[in-house]
Amino acid sequence: MPVIWITNTLWGKASKAIQRLASLRPPDESDYRHKDVRTTMSTARTAADTTPRSIQELFDLTGETAVVTGAGSGLGKAIAEILALAGAQVGLIDVNQDRLATVGAGIEANGGKTFSLTADVSDSTSIASAIEDIKDHFGGLNIVFANAGISRGPGFQEAEGTLTGTRREDWNAVVDVNLNGVFNTLGVASGAIADGGRIIVTASTAGLRADPMVGYAYVATKAAVLNIVRQAALELAPRNIRINAIAPGPFRTNIAGEGALDAPELNSMWAQTIPLGRMAHPEELKGLALLLASNASSFMTGGAYAIDGGALALSHAH
Ligand SMILES: NC(=O)c1ccc[n+]([C@@H]2O[C@H](COP(=O)([O-])OP(=O)(O)OC[C@H]3O[C@@H](n4cnc5c(N)ncnc54)[C@H](O)[C@@H]3O)[C@@H](O)[C@H]2O)c1
Repeated sequence: MPVIWITNTLWGKASKAIQRLASLRPPDESDYRHKDVRTTMSTARTAADTTPRSIQELFDLTGETAVVTGAGSGLGKAIAEILALAGAQVGLIDVNQDRLATVGAGIEANGGKTFSLTADVSDSTSIASAIEDIKDHFGGLNIVFANAGISRGPGFQEAEGTLTGTRREDWNAVVDVNLNGVFNTLGVASGAIADGGRIIVTASTAGLRADPMVGYAYVATKAAVLNIVRQAALELAPRNIRINAIAPGPFRTNIAGEGALDAPELNSMWAQTIPLGRMAHPEELKGLALLLASNASSFMTGGAYAIDGGALALSHAH
């Protein structure tokens, strides 16, 4: 009897949970807000229509427009390069005009199409007008990488990275760029992007677990954006807009200052935390970035994908 009671109770709870989840989804096709979305969705359900005829077609971005924030350096530069190589026209956004010019010139020299604008993601007006200008310039918007970010200071092993020593101005600066900046970018992107578009947020392994190498504001903001991604995935699914996060481990970029992460001592310190025994080069992010930006990830949304040389596997082992 108690077994039956437990079974019935559990089943009752489970079926209510399933009903609640189902209510997040359109119960029938008439509930789709846009007629063209209905078409996209039913097309997506026909396997024969979506089967790519070649590897090229699976990852092809020809004719699509992408925006990358923080495109002037490091991971953003690598992301912009691979999107252009896959055929997209790429809007490059950064606070640093000189870096943008260099990255833009490099992509154009390889036959890519770019349009560069300086803007600050932490300023909602600035990022809104940059994204709208890029959309106007290329005549549409399909892919947005909310990638710009800063780290500002060490982890708790140094005085200014502790609970008491973290300076309020550093905390605010990181929250402004890494959290408010992502939220600002997603707000504009979700309004401007076409149905069927893809949005990718650069989080960090530091958002998935504690990380003594970086500060409180960094771990807090990177964790926060992961849940924004999950929430936005639900909101945007009816328009078949997919949003995912990437969670890089240590990459040799300029985030700790120009060239700082190339220093051998710092490299070997980080390397000790990584099963593959080294830091990554930004080039190594290109495969994951293209996967999430292309049709190759057509059933992936709301996820967080680590690219970390095994660092998270190591932390789960303890
Ligand atoms: N490098 C790593 O090890 C690592 C690991 C995990 C996550 N990340 C994340 O990757 C993203 C890119 O960082 P990166 O490592 O390439 O650093 P980076 O410093 O090399 O590049 C970041 C770029 O963003 C720009 N930027 C900074 N603030 C901005 C703002 N307010 N508006 C617009 N642009 C701005 C900078 O000018 C710079 O060109 C960040 O979100 C970072 O937190 C980096």
